[in-house]
Amino acid sequence: MTANKKVRIGMVGYKFMGKAHSHAYRDLPFYFDTDVEPVLQTLVGRDQNAVRLAAEKLGWLSYETDWRRLLERDDIDVIDIGTPNVSHSEIAIAAAKAGKHVLCEKPLAMNATEAKEMWKAAEQAGIVHMICHNYRFVPAVQWAKKLIQEGVLGDIYHFRAQYLQDWIMDPAFPLVWRMRKDVTGSGTLGDLMAHSIDLARFLVGEIREVSGLMETFIKSRPVGEMSGGLEAAASGDSFAEVDVDDAAAALARFDNGAVGVFEATRFAKGNRNGNRIEINGSKGSIRWGMEQMNNLELYLDSDPRGTQGFRTITCTEGVHPYAGAYWPAGHGIGYEHTFINLMHEFMRGISGVGGKPSPSFEDGYRNQVILDAIEQSTITGSKVTIKY
Ligand SMILES: NC(=O)c1ccc[n+]([C@@H]2O[C@H](COP(=O)([O-])OP(=O)(O)OC[C@H]3O[C@@H](n4cnc5c(N)ncnc54)[C@H](O)[C@@H]3O)[C@@H](O)[C@H]2O)c1
Repeated sequence: MTANKKVRIGMVGYKFMGKAHSHAYRDLPFYFDTDVEPVLQTLVGRDQNAVRLAAEKLGWLSYETDWRRLLERDDIDVIDIGTPNVSHSEIAIAAAKAGKHVLCEKPLAMNATEAKEMWKAAEQAGIVHMICHNYRFVPAVQWAKKLIQEGVLGDIYHFRAQYLQDWIMDPAFPLVWRMRKDVTGSGTLGDLMAHSIDLARFLVGEIREVSGLMETFIKSRPVGEMSGGLEAAASGDSFAEVDVDDAAAALARFDNGAVGVFEATRFAKGNRNGNRIEINGSKGSIRWGMEQMNNLELYLDSDPRGTQGFRTITCTEGVHPYAGAYWPAGHGIGYEHTFINLMHEFMRGISGVGGKPSPSFEDGYRNQVILDAIEQSTITGSKVTIKY
């Protein structure tokens, strides 16, 4: 390890994503040869005692109880946003104006208007910006991208994505911020389908038009709070209306003529984090799913008759992007490594060796335009043309 330039992080939010990001910054120099070392400088949370304990547990040097304090401090280079969606734009725009680099969780904002303001503010300030679509950084997904770019699949006809979870199916599961439109913007659409749309744009290209369908199965729930990961606890006896989607679906046309089918739900019993894609081209197909994230299934029409079929490539060889930084071939990696790989690109962007990292706020904005269009189509019942 030849770490020399220290990049001092101030991170807002310290639960699910806070844990993932803290771990990634800590482990990055352990795995990657880098000239940049992230420093876990300051953790931000609103409750003094809780943020102090979180800072100790997650390995942060100090803490603050108001993110605005980070803007004034010259010992902070990066602001990392791991808070609910409603707070992203205010924090990101203020951070950019203060000259801090920004890493923001997805979806970038509550809507495309906000997302555009964030992207423009980041560009105007000349800071390095990224949105945390971590599934792009799975070596098997990166390998799929390379195969598609090299024409191994031929012309792409179909992109098919399912993002299936089941953690809120119990009607007694509390109404947390993820089910409040004023805090989250949308439900499964922005939470889950946003990731599928990012993979679609990354692997296949830009989307031209969409038709949407969204549904809320359980319309009222006891009010509660997230308690870490995807766990939550009711905070009393009161109930409130769920005003976001429990499930969302969309049909799409891509600029290159391919068609896309997207499904996202938190009501698919037995699917804990079933983030899956399949792509079919004129010469072959690929399949990938997060639950077997190291594996990429590949079908090639050029295989001799009688031996054709999907083969499973375990993307843990040195040739597979990022995989060589970890373990010998066949020794798999996990969820947390997707964040390490993403932070590695972010740090390379800051040090100047990696160019502008992606997905950027522009990607976050384009993603949000598509999310908004799916919602609009659901309301009007008509397909919507994507306009950036
Ligand atoms: N990349 C992914 O795969 C992924 C996975 C989960 C969540 N997310 C995104 O990450 C963000 C956070 O989600 P989470 O699951 O970590 O939520 P969470 O509920 O587990 O944690 C949110 C944190 O933000 C804090 N917080 C809320 N409002 C705040 C404010 N105004 N100032 C300071 N702190 C505040 C909370 O106290 C908590 O620490 C969301 O945008 C979500 O969509 C992304």
